[in-house]
Amino acid sequence: MPNSNSKRIAAEKAAAYIQDGMTVGLGTGSTAYWAIQEIGKKVHNGLQIKAVATSVQSEKLAIDLGIPLSPFSEIAEIDVTIDGADEVDGMWNLIKGGGGALLREKIIASSSKELIVVVDESKVVDRLGKFHLPVEVVKFGYELTRRKLSALGCEPKLRLVDQKPYMTDNGNYILDCDFKQIAMPSECHDAINSIPGVVDNGLFIGMAAKVIVGYKDGSVKECY
Ligand code: A5P
Repeated sequence: MPNSNSKRIAAEKAAAYIQDGMTVGLGTGSTAYWAIQEIGKKVHNGLQIKAVATSVQSEKLAIDLGIPLSPFSEIAEIDVTIDGADEVDGMWNLIKGGGGALLREKIIASSSKELIVVVDESKVVDRLGKFHLPVEVVKFGYELTRRKLSALGCEPKLRLVDQKPYMTDNGNYILDCDFKQIAMPSECHDAINSIPGVVDNGLFIGMAAKVIVGYKDGSVKECY
């Protein structure tokens, strides 16, 4: 269980936006965890929703908490998705994918009427890029894809777990790209995604409708 009060209070505030009849996207990570917990409590107390999850991990948590999950074939649109982020800039552009779920997160966020981003204060930055940008790539020829990414001015490293390549829920690899700073997030996003072999990258440009920030002193700030 993630132990961070500032993440928890931001997530709980976001869960207050969930209402009866909504279709809800469940994010991934230690902040989204608290939102899913809170939604689980509400469902237990009678809230009627349908949900879709952005990762196998969040799907399991939802099932454990009794949150009803719907197949995508039965969903026209998602009303609201609550998800964390690794960095948020002043324009609410995001870096996501620290937990490896960036592709499913982006698919679900792009089909949501509203994406509510929940973070603790450490995630708020002036400029994106200190956090190494996760890029999901297909396994085939990933060394070549890595070279093309380097040519964009970053240092991509294959994500490893127990000295083996980390595998996403979609069976792909992640290259974590150290750009130091990303001056033009939208251009960077498009340049990365135009490389064959790249499935998607963790830049979420103009997708967040609200950002809710939890602070160490117990306060929460909502940015609309
Ligand atoms: C999962 O792949 C990520 O996009 C997370 O949403 C992001 O890494 C934030 O995670 P935490 O809430 O655990 O910091």
